[in-house]
Amino acid sequence: MNKKGFIFDLDGVIVDTAKYHFLAWQRLAKGLDIDFTEEENEQLKGVSRVRSLEKILAWGNKTISQDLFNDLMGKKNEEYLGFIADMDTDEILPDVPRVLNVLKEKHQPIALGSASKNARTILERVHLISDFNAIVDGNDVSKAKPDPEVFLIAAKEINVQPEDCIVFEDSVAGVTAANTANMISIGIGSKDVLGHANYVFKDFTEITDDFIKSLIEN
Ligand code: BG6
Ligand code: MG
Repeated sequence: MNKKGFIFDLDGVIVDTAKYHFLAWQRLAKGLDIDFTEEENEQLKGVSRVRSLEKILAWGNKTISQDLFNDLMGKKNEEYLGFIADMDTDEILPDVPRVLNVLKEKHQPIALGSASKNARTILERVHLISDFNAIVDGNDVSKAKPDPEVFLIAAKEINVQPEDCIVFEDSVAGVTAANTANMISIGIGSKDVLGHANYVFKDFTEITDDFIKSLIEN
C-alpha cells in the first residue's frame, strides 16, 4: 500500500475561521485609523499573528512602540477568542470529514500544518483532534509561511518524504510554502488567488473520493 502524507492547514481549510481573523484584524485596524480591504486580507491569510500586524501597520504607514505592538497582539487574540468561544462541529467546512474518513480508511498519515497558536484548542472544540497523527502549529515554528518550515516539520513527524506529501491550503502564503517544500499543493478557494497551486478546488465538496485515491496511488 502506498503511503502519502496529507497535511492540512486549519483556518479556512478545516474550519470556517478565516472570517473571524479578518473581523478581528479589521476592528483593531479601525482603532488605529487604518482601513484594509478583503483583497488585502488575502495577504494576511496563513501569515503569523506578528507578521499580520506588521503588514497592517505598514499599510497604514504607522510606527508604534513595542509595548503597544504587544498590547495590540493580545487584544486581537482576545477578540478572536471571543468569536470562537462557542465554536462547535457546525464550523467544520463542508465535506472535510468525508475526505478525512477516506484517508483514515486508506491508512494514510494525516498532519496539521497551521500558523495558528490556537490550533489545538480549535481542533478540540470541533472534535477533530484525534484524526491527526501530528499537529504542527504556530507554537512549533520559528519561521512563518511562506517559509516551508511548518510543512517540513509536519512531514518529518509523520515520517513521509516532502515529495510524497500533499498540502491543502487556502492562503497564497501557504501554497507558496507547500511549493517551496516540494510538496503537491491543493488550493482551497479561488483560482484567481491560488493560481500557483498544483490543483485548485472551490471547497472540499468538489474533491471526489476518486481524486483522493488517485493522489495516494500516484
Ligand atoms: C493562520 C491564519 O492560520 O493563523 C491567520 O490564516 C492567523 O489569519 C494565523 O493570523 C495566526 O493565528 P493565531 O490564532 O495564532 O492568531
Ligand atoms: Mg488558512
